[in-house]
Amino acid sequence: MRIYVTEDYQAMSRKVANLLAAQVMIKPDCVLGLATGSTPVGAYQRLVELYRAGDVDFSQVRSINLDEYVGLAPTHDQSYRYFMQSNLFDHVNIDPANTNVPQGLAEDPEAECRRYNQVIHDLGPIDLQLLGMGHNGHIGFNEPSDVFERETHVVDLAQSTIQANARFFASADEVPRQAMTMGVQTIMQARKVLVAVSGKDKAEIVKKAFTGPVTPQVPASILQMHPDVVLVGDKAALSLL
Ligand code: F6R
Repeated sequence: MRIYVTEDYQAMSRKVANLLAAQVMIKPDCVLGLATGSTPVGAYQRLVELYRAGDVDFSQVRSINLDEYVGLAPTHDQSYRYFMQSNLFDHVNIDPANTNVPQGLAEDPEAECRRYNQVIHDLGPIDLQLLGMGHNGHIGFNEPSDVFERETHVVDLAQSTIQANARFFASADEVPRQAMTMGVQTIMQARKVLVAVSGKDKAEIVKKAFTGPVTPQVPASILQMHPDVVLVGDKAALSLL
């Protein structure tokens, strides 16, 4: 595993954006696995700047997002489709037809997961998967569990995740209780995994995930078994490593 320690969130964001841009330069039609949440916002801003400067071209890139809330429309400002449009897709020359996020309003979420798996199988393997990490070690919305779930599936969100994400909604009651998420096996099949972490509040779980036992109770711990992981974090998040 390669670890980059940066001074702060801004420097972490620049590093993550540079690594994503390098992937696109090396393989212009690459498959990028993308994440939402507060961690990658700065990296996406930086990627937009690189695109505007003419340094990176997304015209052939295909993207697959990790997850989406069940029940949120793509136009809902807390849906992950909306997040991707407003933070990245609307500002670069990616072909909208080449972007994939599970459909939150699908009538049958289980069938939507099967459809999404097929999309991943048709496009994959993912060349570079970007991940953030939850305080409980979740990756995507793979919450602590007794087993590592393999492919895209519907999950009941952990209470801690609902509380953590309540900051984006009017109240915790409005946070959806379920989500669709790419499974751990699919994440592990990505050729390269790029984990971004920031802030002191992530230090404990980063230590647990990367130096503790590999267990589905800490889903990110499985990344210890991946042959090509890059961890980029600010010094606060990596302070306990
Ligand atoms: C988002 C995702 C989540 C987040 C995680 C960390 O697509 O899959 O696993 O990466 O919840 O969120 P932040 O970055 O807000 O701390």
